[in-house]
Amino acid sequence: MPVKLRSEASGHHPIQLDRLCRSAEVLLRRTNHGNSELSLLIVSDQAIHELNRHYRHKDKPTNVLSFPMNDGREIADGALLGDIVISADTAAREAKELKIPLRQRLNWLLIHGLVHLLGYDHERSEPEAALMESREHELQQHLNDTERKKTMTQLAINVDHVATLRQARGINEPDPVLAAGICELAGASGIVVHLREDRRHIQDRDVRILRETVKTKLNLEMGATPEIIGIALSLKPDMITLVPEKRQELTTEGGLNVSGQKKKLEEVIKQMTKAGIPVSLFIDPEPKQISAAAAIGATFVEIHTGRYCDAASETAREDEFELVATAADFAYGLGLKVNAGHGLNYQNVSRVAALDAIVELSIGHSVMARAIMVGLDQAVREMLDLIRG
Ligand code: PXP
Repeated sequence: MPVKLRSEASGHHPIQLDRLCRSAEVLLRRTNHGNSELSLLIVSDQAIHELNRHYRHKDKPTNVLSFPMNDGREIADGALLGDIVISADTAAREAKELKIPLRQRLNWLLIHGLVHLLGYDHERSEPEAALMESREHELQQHLNDTERKKTMTQLAINVDHVATLRQARGINEPDPVLAAGICELAGASGIVVHLREDRRHIQDRDVRILRETVKTKLNLEMGATPEIIGIALSLKPDMITLVPEKRQELTTEGGLNVSGQKKKLEEVIKQMTKAGIPVSLFIDPEPKQISAAAAIGATFVEIHTGRYCDAASETAREDEFELVATAADFAYGLGLKVNAGHGLNYQNVSRVAALDAIVELSIGHSVMARAIMVGLDQAVREMLDLIRG
């Protein structure tokens, strides 16, 4: 292994060591050092402060330190390059200040440290600083290119609100079954319906017919109640998404408390798995819930994007986005398939769609609201354009 990565930082920074290691390997190959050895150490502010004082006589913590092996000589591929030490505490602080994901900041510090190991030094002269900066930009660009999402994020459309309109009159139109067909023709990769206990919008008849007519994938959103579990087991949708359900709520208000009801949910997952139905758990972007979902055998998690979408200020939105991004990476790292949804609209969808780990978005209200003005086919296509863009 050319990269030896070790973390001595406290566990409360959500650092994906395997991804950082992969970034380091990509960078080594790019700098013609695919066979060289690099040691990468992630530490706390306290530890980097000690190193900074001891080796550089600077009595403060810093973000990254490099300890080259070569003393300025040309380095051959296969040689020992040296050590890079990164402070997780400072990296996390800087990421927050810059409003970027921690992973992005760590990658940049890694690049900075590596370029130092390769003999560049921005402190020697201005021309050298400029040279170093351009090398860093080139490596950052290369890393971005290799990390760019390889598969397109898909769009599942929730047609509940077509049924809401129908139920408001108590007649038989508009029909969510017809709407589902139009969404599929426009390019949706799946149809979602929430069969609520109180049947306020989607009816049993809708799910039964959709089971026959949906060509892409029918995702039945549901509370884990015996009646609805029975319906799911007999209809066999392509997947189910378990959500917490309250009668008084206007829409699903938060994620499932998976860690607090592991036994009950594990039992439902077992029943569904036996019937060949994959299960997704709708959860808030919290590591505790994601770990619990993986532990009880969920196939998917759907990350609740509501707090990101509803954030009242720019800062809060950035914080919430970071939580969603980190949660998606974390879930992916645990082997879960990752969906996301709730509150997504034409203004806020692109960033979430661009997250590497996310396979599919589940969107309802904003598409239906636009469909009233421009038609359902166009509303779905415009959403798809944003997701693919
Ligand atoms: N995902 C889940 C689990 C939901 O409960 C809902 C709302 O029905 C959605 C996604 C879609 O949310 P929205 O209608 O805000 O797009």
